[in-house]
Amino acid sequence: MEVFVTRKIPKVGLSEITGRYDTEVNPESRRLSKDEIIQGVKGKDALLCTLTDIIDEDIIQEGTSLKVISNYAVGYDNIDVDAATKKGIAVTNTPGVLTDATAELAFGLMLTVARNMVKGDRFVRKDSFEGWDPTLMVGSELKGKTLGIIGMGNIGSAVAEKSAAFGMDLIYHNRSRVESVEKELGADYVEMEDLLERSDFVSLHVPLNEETNGMIGWHELEVMKDSAYLINTARGEVVDEEALIEALRSKKIAGAGVDVFADEPYGANPDYYDLKNVVLTPHLGSASRRARGGMARMAADNLIAVLEGRVPENIVNPEVLEEQGDRR
Ligand code: DGY
Repeated sequence: MEVFVTRKIPKVGLSEITGRYDTEVNPESRRLSKDEIIQGVKGKDALLCTLTDIIDEDIIQEGTSLKVISNYAVGYDNIDVDAATKKGIAVTNTPGVLTDATAELAFGLMLTVARNMVKGDRFVRKDSFEGWDPTLMVGSELKGKTLGIIGMGNIGSAVAEKSAAFGMDLIYHNRSRVESVEKELGADYVEMEDLLERSDFVSLHVPLNEETNGMIGWHELEVMKDSAYLINTARGEVVDEEALIEALRSKKIAGAGVDVFADEPYGANPDYYDLKNVVLTPHLGSASRRARGGMARMAADNLIAVLEGRVPENIVNPEVLEEQGDRR
């Protein structure tokens, strides 16, 4: 069996693959071009890729021997799953192991932007700090504020759970109601408009798909309180960035914490850079040693399971294996 790995992932997972299969690993720490990935998948039985690799139909067509595309990410919007399914290729992802890391980052962004921590850090480094000042960089506390969570999957639920420690009131919007967060955490299910109107912090935890692309636009930002903050650790395209930049510039909302960008994998919109009421991080949601190690192990396990004819723990298009099972 031959495997192509587009980017070095932590050894705990990578060594499971290299120890078993004839494996070609991109030796450089850079994203490969589409042509390089096409060359890489030729004749390979499995592809292990990251969320910065756009695995489109062209690549899938060239991977004539591919049995599995194992994504080193929970989100799989970078993969044309329909094209893979049509070709009978299993697509797998890494849910669960990065849930807490991402939820913690969401709180990090809430605190950082609402309590002026980045602004304060720059201020001190500029040698501008001349002692405690009763009016210096006075921000907003989390306690007693309303947190509106959009998307109550694993990560949304972990954010909900952690919000109790900060004494926040919880409302949420999701495709369907989640009884456990209502019963255990006292979260109220509300319509989207209601959530936007009432929340002091709006935190996004939806996957990127046709329904969620651009779900936060100018109208949604206008509905939000002027004192509210928007936190995005989901995907850049969920928010209309031009509208958000305008809302931040005109102080339509108080601020934002942004970890993900519509221009990924090429970078961020430079129009954010001059704005003082936004904190920007470079897609760090899963960037903890525990999460990245867990993702590596899971991506390797998923890949190995498919190559060994087993059903992987995390499959995005199970119908592929069901059909194969029926044929066997
Ligand atoms: C994912 O796995 O989809 C995350 O965005 C990575 O940080």
